[in-house]
Amino acid sequence: MTTHFSPRRFQDQVALVAGGAQGIGKAIAARLAREGARLVMADVDRDMMRKTAAEITAEGGSVRTLYCNVSQRRSVERLVARILGWYGKVDVMIFVAGVVRGLPFVKTQEKDWDYVIDTNLKGAFLVARAVTPHMVKRRRGKLVFMASTNSWDAEAELAAYNVSKAGVFLLAKTLARELGPYGINSNAVGPGLIRTRLSEPFIQDPKFIKKYETLIPVGRIGMPEDVAGPATFLASRDADFVNGVLLFVDGGQLA
Ligand SMILES: NC(=O)c1ccc[n+]([C@@H]2O[C@H](COP(=O)([O-])OP(=O)(O)OC[C@H]3O[C@@H](n4cnc5c(N)ncnc54)[C@H](O)[C@@H]3O)[C@@H](O)[C@H]2O)c1
Repeated sequence: MTTHFSPRRFQDQVALVAGGAQGIGKAIAARLAREGARLVMADVDRDMMRKTAAEITAEGGSVRTLYCNVSQRRSVERLVARILGWYGKVDVMIFVAGVVRGLPFVKTQEKDWDYVIDTNLKGAFLVARAVTPHMVKRRRGKLVFMASTNSWDAEAELAAYNVSKAGVFLLAKTLARELGPYGINSNAVGPGLIRTRLSEPFIQDPKFIKKYETLIPVGRIGMPEDVAGPATFLASRDADFVNGVLLFVDGGQLA
């Protein structure tokens, strides 16, 4: 896949990628760093974060890493306090952290529901809640939330996941209305099927992948880099008049 990038698009901007250690978050983080951002990567997976940060540094990018569990308020508040201590601002917040539990509804336990909702939806709330007061003070900021085609399309055996992703989109829209007057843009990205650690068990299932192959007009499943361009577009000045959208990146699956 050929990627076109502008080395100075995010120059002097501080960008936080929550859930940036691997998969889609890693592709977005790498793209932001290549385009000049001072990147802060936050994740629960310390090993992958270290590895990804080393790759970004080797390419000449500016990156700092911090352990953060997005479902825990204290952890998120510590993260944002550290970033403000280092740089005094957050220009871009991209919330990517996410988990999935594929389970028949009648077998879904409260702990499964809480795990998915607490990471995907409460995590988005906590990170946005922690960064937005500073963005409001500076009257600028870009919020990008990782939603999904599942924000719209209710896939069977993914009740908590579908609900979390619909919620994330509505959070993005609410903040678009509420914080737009303060110079803050809030949008969501809706990937379709993208090959990552999260989707691999589904991709390995012959029944699942056969169904998907016929669903995607472009005739392939996506790669994390397919999402990096649309997500960084929404984080860039080019998207100053884009507010409250869900940008599907799904090869036409929902067309
Ligand atoms: N892969 C797909 O097909 C697909 C499709 C639509 C949406 N998405 C969404 O994209 C996002 C990224 O998914 P991915 O496919 O790259 O998965 P992934 O498993 O490769 O990456 C998810 C990242 O989130 C981190 N994470 C998980 N829980 C966390 C927590 N509590 N605190 C901080 N970090 C945490 C993980 O350590 C990991 O680095 C998710 O929100 C997912 O729902 C993925």
